[in-house]
Amino acid sequence: MKDETITGRLVRLVRERPGYRDTLEKIVKWYDENFKCEGCGSRNLKRVGKHKYKCTRCGYNTIIIGFHTMDIQATPAYLVKLANMGILEVTYRGSASGVYYMPKDIDVIRRVLRLSPREIEVPPPRELSIPDDLFEPIVGYDDLKGLLIDCLKKRVHVLLVGPPSTAKSMILQEIARIDGSYFALAGTSTKAGLRDVIVEERPSILIIDELDKIYNPNELSILLTLMESGFITVTIHGRRERVYVNTVVFAGANTTRKIPPELLSRFLVIRLRPYTEEELRKIIVNVLVRREGISEPIAKYIAEKVIIEMGSRDPRDAIKIARLSGNDKKKVDGITRILKRYKES
Ligand SMILES: Nc1ncnc2c1ncn2[C@@H]1O[C@H](COP(=O)(O)OP(=O)(O)OP(=O)(O)O)[C@@H](O)[C@H]1O
Ligand SMILES: [Mg+2]
Repeated sequence: MKDETITGRLVRLVRERPGYRDTLEKIVKWYDENFKCEGCGSRNLKRVGKHKYKCTRCGYNTIIIGFHTMDIQATPAYLVKLANMGILEVTYRGSASGVYYMPKDIDVIRRVLRLSPREIEVPPPRELSIPDDLFEPIVGYDDLKGLLIDCLKKRVHVLLVGPPSTAKSMILQEIARIDGSYFALAGTSTKAGLRDVIVEERPSILIIDELDKIYNPNELSILLTLMESGFITVTIHGRRERVYVNTVVFAGANTTRKIPPELLSRFLVIRLRPYTEEELRKIIVNVLVRREGISEPIAKYIAEKVIIEMGSRDPRDAIKIARLSGNDKKKVDGITRILKRYKES
């Protein structure tokens, strides 16, 4: 109970007089560097005299007098106040050398530093420089492209949801061309750790493809705070600090089923529908001619085969056939015939 009151009073002091935080951090640093056994380096010391500590590991006796204002470059008045509050103990008072202190309970100080995270100044949002030809390789979605650019500029988080091959990854890859963006594939981002990525990269745009594949509750809660408050909390040398990052999140997913509702509600959710025949025709011809080196007549031919004969709605089917057939119409016929025969029913 006594300990609780001291902790509470110290929390209030740090909040009202932030200058004390610096002093407390210096005390912890001094303690970490100096409070250890001279024999074996262990920190398990038992006090056996005013300045004498016995190591519970090796039995060696170490003399630790405490720290002096000069040792930690602290304002003397702050140390007096902390001693009056019962945070520090005066361990030595010399007429010429001055006063030496020891923390009465270092864990109280550590706890207070953790409870009151340092507020790091919020940097102004970086101006995004959006390439003129952003989204150029993407066919259709003309209304959506403008909206997405507005969301980027105004920092509205966006989640693209849709069935396979509706250009979600393509859109995200285009956004990844913007300076200051970071592309995290859900599966791999978890390995590097989302928090590390955010702290180290401080991305203006965090892109997460396959958001529905993040299962780690830790990562999800980091995302939640980031999207809600624009900061993440990190522990640096045992201290909790808030790192402000002006990050807008753009994500993709096949379904919203596995995404926690509180995370979902922080996104502008855009649902992409399967393509109509007409849209698909345009996309297939475009992709095959521009990216796969197929002539326009053959590209159109493949589009018809895929859409009408195979009944597919997936541009990837056309790409696969085109890679196998090249510009050879007969091969197109042959491959589609085989594929139809072995198609899943
Ligand atoms: N609107 C489009 N414009 C151009 N190409 C497209 C378009 N839609 C789909 N494609 C083609 O389909 C392929 C698959 O697209 P993409 O990988 O972006 O789909 P996705 O929505 O991320 O699918 P998944 O849910 O399976 O990850 C692309 O490589 C591209 O060739
Ligand atoms: Mg994808």
